[in-house]
Amino acid sequence: MVNDKIGLFYGSDTGYTEGVAHQIQELIGASNIEVHDINRAKPEDFAPYQRIIIGLSTWHDGELQSDWDAFYENFKTIDFSGKTVAFFGLGDQIGYGEYFIDGVGILGDVVYENGGQIVGVWPTEGYDFEISKAEFQEGWFLGLAIDEDNQPEMTVPRVEAWVEQVMEEFAEAVSNQQA
Ligand SMILES: Cc1cc2nc3c(=O)[nH]c(=O)nc-3n(C[C@H](O)[C@H](O)[C@H](O)COP(=O)(O)O)c2cc1C
Repeated sequence: MVNDKIGLFYGSDTGYTEGVAHQIQELIGASNIEVHDINRAKPEDFAPYQRIIIGLSTWHDGELQSDWDAFYENFKTIDFSGKTVAFFGLGDQIGYGEYFIDGVGILGDVVYENGGQIVGVWPTEGYDFEISKAEFQEGWFLGLAIDEDNQPEMTVPRVEAWVEQVMEEFAEAVSNQQA
């Protein structure tokens, strides 16, 4: 059964990604989105949604947040064809500047390989990092980058702008599929 709501799946070790997930839920409106902690999710939970938001932090020099790490083999079994996916990633660009939000790049590769369309790409301008697996093209992250460690004051304006962008891009993707 197709679910018209947006499915948001997040994983969070110390609560920062969870906080951003709830901020996004509030902006989109609780009746339009269903939020899942990946810690308790199953691969089939992704099936009903055409529009998906994925949130994760990166840990231990470029590794997936622990719940996403545990879910990774399951994640690779998900068919993303016909689905549009937007990513947001949390990281520390100063402390871990060689791995900044790498997890977004790691999961993004799977979504591409499994047929998904990705929206919500975000400029790298305004960040100070060395290397990122999420920088899929020079000057562009595959999704929104949030740094609660070094730029917490930027989180709210970044999330607000990104949610507006993603809602437009979701609408375009759905109308292209219907055309
Ligand atoms: C031990 C440790 C390792 C980390 N490794 C990375 C990393 O490799 N890349 C990165 O961008 N951020 C890294 N971070 C920063 C976290 O991703 C960041 O603090 C994030 O906001 C945590 O979000 P969460 O509480 O939702 O898990 C690390 C933080 C710690 C404490």
